[in-house]
Amino acid sequence: MTLDKTKVVYQIYPKSYKDTTGNGVGDLQGIIEKLPYLKELGIDMVWLNPFYPSPQRDNGYDISDYTAVNPLFGDMADFEEMVRVGKEHGIDFMLDMVLNHCSIEHEWFQKALAGDPYYQDFFFIQDRPTDWLSKFGGSAWAPFGDTGKYYLHLYDVTQADLNWRNPHVRGELFKVVNFWRDKGVKGFRFDVINVIGKDAVLEDCPEHDGKPAYTDKPITHDYLHMLNEATFGQDGSFVTVGEMSATTIENCILYTAPDRHELSMAFNFHHLKVDYEAGQKWTLKAFDFEELKHLFHTWGREMSEHDGWSALFWNNHDQPRALNRFVDVEHFRNEGATMLAASIHLSRGTPYIYMGEEIGMIDPEYDSMDDYVDVESTNAYQSLLAAGQSPEEAFRIIQAKSRDNSRTPMQWDDSPNAGFTTGQPWLKAGKSYPQINVTKEQDGPIFTFYQKLIALRKELPLIAEGSYSPAYEDSPQIYAFERHLAGQKLLVLNNFYPDPITVDILPDYQNAQVLLSNYGESQAGQVMTLKPYETLALFLP
Ligand code: GLC
Repeated sequence: MTLDKTKVVYQIYPKSYKDTTGNGVGDLQGIIEKLPYLKELGIDMVWLNPFYPSPQRDNGYDISDYTAVNPLFGDMADFEEMVRVGKEHGIDFMLDMVLNHCSIEHEWFQKALAGDPYYQDFFFIQDRPTDWLSKFGGSAWAPFGDTGKYYLHLYDVTQADLNWRNPHVRGELFKVVNFWRDKGVKGFRFDVINVIGKDAVLEDCPEHDGKPAYTDKPITHDYLHMLNEATFGQDGSFVTVGEMSATTIENCILYTAPDRHELSMAFNFHHLKVDYEAGQKWTLKAFDFEELKHLFHTWGREMSEHDGWSALFWNNHDQPRALNRFVDVEHFRNEGATMLAASIHLSRGTPYIYMGEEIGMIDPEYDSMDDYVDVESTNAYQSLLAAGQSPEEAFRIIQAKSRDNSRTPMQWDDSPNAGFTTGQPWLKAGKSYPQINVTKEQDGPIFTFYQKLIALRKELPLIAEGSYSPAYEDSPQIYAFERHLAGQKLLVLNNFYPDPITVDILPDYQNAQVLLSNYGESQAGQVMTLKPYETLALFLP
């Protein structure tokens, strides 16, 4: 398996991309309509969040049929057309595989509930619940019908965990993966895949949350190896990425080192917790730059030295917009957006762009709790109130942290609902759409900068393949790194603050070529002053 490291992935949340039917929900035909736009941007692959039949309790991550298209989004003919037209545009598709759990409306769970022991073995069903917590709040166990027993759900109560110890479960899931492979998709994103391996006996934990009993267990590596062998491992051009919850560098090296035959790359989330107070998401805190820099350097160096491979990203459907978290977006949206982009697109790993990031989309600024639909957010709001926060405080936290921040409709133009739908959108468009939209931004500084970054990765093997080493590790406001390959060198400096900062340029780079700058800088020097949110890439061919 050799991964093509020149590729860049673009993530589409299908529900919110483009609605062609007027039902207020984005659809597959909408994605087909926008393929020329994506080609213009230059990306190679589109990751689609789940579009399968689902009660939509968790926006499609609660799947009730793994091998069909939810009529909300279209049908199988639309899917096949999308893959075909995609290929004509040089764009492949990566599908989201949610194999840790299925909806309780899935026939496997329904048959289990009806008393079929074969299907009861597909789940974790016990007489006594443990003290584990659901990642969406409350206990991780719920009553299994009226049997007096309990089933495990690490996420929503409607998302029942699948028992990977059972070979029949693995067999069924591998069939699902092969079903979509046969349809011509070229990539998979495996949802929370590092929690599929659970301890043989599920018991109370000293930590009282259950995490040590199911996170990064050695058996998960065995399962991934089996998955690889039974499915995509047969095709060397496949791109696979695992979403890893609360993972470690050591495990991500094992998940992704090519000789292990598990996955091509891994998402970790540590860098997106640097604005959590005491590790808790539902809090307000300015981001901790020292921690961010330290995490990037440690992961960058270790993955580079041990042949691991990371998926690099600032945004996804579970995160508020990075511009609102890391940038003075009111004054420096263009500079901040381009600097954030360079800080990952010039680094070592595969960059992911989340829809709207390429035009500098920001959080929606909703006015009321009624505007939010995400189950995690509405649960969190209730918990914050129950913990004694005032409704105003609780609302401010939801505004900053809700996953709906990134799930708002793609902003295509300044017509009603941002040009996303002619109907009533399932989630309200962000307030910024009259100013921030594709029509206005497509020739603008952010979109064109992304085009350059994507093109550079294809032109220079140094960017795609080079090693990573930290630079300026003590700088209070610059995150910098070097890339090396076959005698070529690149130094990338990113000012993460609205204040300028003067730096002594490393001796080797004082006469270097300026490969990229978001301020039109053209010359290196001995001492340089980086402007607010400036990014500068110095190249030694
Ligand atoms: C992943 C998905 C998230 C979903 C969860 C449960 O974290 O990204 O959206 O809610 O898994 O499937």
